[in-house]
Formats: sequence, structure tokens, C-alpha cells
Amino acid sequence: MNIEGIATEVVEKTEWVAIATSGPEGPHVVGTWGDYIRAIGISADRVVIPVGHMHKTEANLKRDNRVELLCGSRLVQGTHGPGKGCSITGTAQVLTEGEEYEAVRSRFPWARAALVVRVDKVETQL
Ligand SMILES: Cc1cc2nc3c(=O)[nH]c(=O)nc-3n(C[C@H](O)[C@H](O)[C@H](O)COP(=O)(O)O)c2cc1C
Repeated sequence: MNIEGIATEVVEKTEWVAIATSGPEGPHVVGTWGDYIRAIGISADRVVIPVGHMHKTEANLKRDNRVELLCGSRLVQGTHGPGKGCSITGTAQVLTEGEEYEAVRSRFPWARAALVVRVDKVETQL
């Protein structure tokens, strides 16, 4: 499934994005900025996130590569008023080589890796 339609609008306007993984002690949520994911360029089936820290997130993904992202913006019209959200479910890997890593490093020299999310499902909220 691809990021398309109204979900694209939400991703284009969101200020920040929550990133949830599963660990041995339960769920773990971290964040990234909307302009960071837009800076790399969002393709329909992939989201690339610059990794500065995210050590726990990386450890979680090594055990269980499933990930869920959640973003939202008041600037996108929802069903009941201003505000729409979008959840992106998929699998992810922390990469320190390859095309995505090079793209992240050229835009964010501080990044130690690229978190690459392969999109399986996109659902809107509100
Ligand atoms: C709005 C927001 C944006 C953030 N952006 C990033 C980011 O782009 N990259 C990053 O590594 N951490 C970012 N952080 C910090 C992470 O949420 C997290 O605290 C940190 O990376 C440690 O992750 P860990 O608990 O998986 O080790 C951001 C936090 C917030 C609240």
C-alpha cells in the first residue's frame, strides 16, 4: 500500500511524526520532524528518517522489525473539522550504508544512520 491522496497532504503538513516500536518491556515511542522526512523526499512506499540517537528503537527493530508512524495536521481538513491524521504501518531497518544512508548523511551530517520504513498500510484518522 502507498502513501497517496489525503495521506500525502497530512505527511506534507505534519510538524512532527511519532515512531512506535515494540520492545521486551512494551511499546516505545520516539519522534522525528516532518521537515526531516520531507527533506529526504517521501516516495509512495518508503519513509526515510535521520537517526541521531534512537538506540533503543534500533535494538527493538532488531528483535521485531514492525513499526508504526503517526502524524497529523490541523492544516488538513478532517471529517468533522480542521485536523486530520495518518498512521503508517510497515517494517523498518536502521541502515549505515547504501542509497538511503548517503541521502540522509548529505542532508543531515550529524546523522549516524538512516531509519528506512517500508510502508505496508496507510490509514487516516479523524
Ligand atoms: C519532535 C521530535 C523530533 C525528533 N527528531 C529526531 C530525529 O530526527 N532523529 C533522532 O534520532 N531523534 C529525534 N528525536 C529524539 C527521539 O525521539 C529520541 O528521544 C532519541 O532519538 C532517543 O531514542 P531511543 O529512545 O530509541 O534511544 C526527536 C524527538 C522529538 C520529540
